[in-house]
Amino acid sequence: MSLLSDISWDDFEGLALLEKGPFFCPDGREAHVILAQQFTRERLDSLGELATCIRRISKTHDGMDFLQGVLSHKRAMLYFSQPSTRTFLSFCAACEILGMKLGEVRDTSMSSEFKGESQEDSVRSFSSYFDLIVMRSKIGGLAERMAWMLSNSERTVPIINAGSGKDQHPTQAVLDIYTLQRSFEKTGGIDGKRIVFVGDLLRGRTVRSLSFLLTQYRDVEQVFVAPDQLQIGEDIQQMLSAAGVKFSLSDDLRGELPNADAIYMTRIQDEWDEKGGDSAKIDISSFSLGLDELELMKQAAVIMHPLPRRTEIAPEVDHDSRAVYWRQMRNGMWVRAAMSATIFGKQDMVLEYGEMHGA
Ligand code: NCD
Repeated sequence: MSLLSDISWDDFEGLALLEKGPFFCPDGREAHVILAQQFTRERLDSLGELATCIRRISKTHDGMDFLQGVLSHKRAMLYFSQPSTRTFLSFCAACEILGMKLGEVRDTSMSSEFKGESQEDSVRSFSSYFDLIVMRSKIGGLAERMAWMLSNSERTVPIINAGSGKDQHPTQAVLDIYTLQRSFEKTGGIDGKRIVFVGDLLRGRTVRSLSFLLTQYRDVEQVFVAPDQLQIGEDIQQMLSAAGVKFSLSDDLRGELPNADAIYMTRIQDEWDEKGGDSAKIDISSFSLGLDELELMKQAAVIMHPLPRRTEIAPEVDHDSRAVYWRQMRNGMWVRAAMSATIFGKQDMVLEYGEMHGA
């Protein structure tokens, strides 16, 4: 068994992402949620099944009362030092559905970090009061380091990475998979589909995490459509080649639309510009979806977006039955509830209730 408490930070840090994965799931289920690379297809299926069960149970008053008791003995800390609306609220809602009490730090200028406290010490303080820490940070790899640190302290509190730097957004990627599973339920599932990513692929962490998860499915082809300056990184291309995945790069969105089964749109991540305004100089006019582009798409295709959007999807597109981004957002709440229940070993209790009550 791979245990974070058995390995030094230096040795752990030096491992490849795929080697790190099992350390976050030592018993075969999530102890922390840190990297996309910790999820096998089997785990994605189990989390999807549990998310659906929670979603169905929540439809009745009695079901909601049951869910409220699942983690009513636990407290969660939401530590978001980077802007967030939906991920933050989605975790609030997920934790509340399971009856958890919540604490939050969103503005570090109001916390002891402003007085010079390190993030390590802040997280250690949270672990004294809370049973789960959900964190978002602009520092790549921070959640990973915190999970190692807490696993080597007297109070091993689970960490969920709600977005770290430009590198990872594992909970978003799992909810994206859940959305694809649901969208392709009647058309043979995710296997064999062609997924087209569009936008700022260089700096979008959701694409990086999802691209890896899709390698778990058979014969999925990945297409990356972006202006040259924002194309997907070499590391992802190498990861796909090593996994034997068919992929291609393009700058022609209209040319790719007719063969796409899912279009995953993203915004320009200009908060990462080295000089303010750098990405405003890039011509992104042909990387957006409007009513004309819809005409080119398959009837059974789906349009996704992690949100927030800017101009890359025209609001008129929202009314098209292929636009699933609002449903995708709501799926996030169920998936995050499923992850939280699993971290605390409550998955079987929920599934049994679901079975008994026809959910
Ligand atoms: C994404 C993020 O924070 O990486 N948002 C989200 O969590 N849904 C995407 C983005 O900000 O563009």
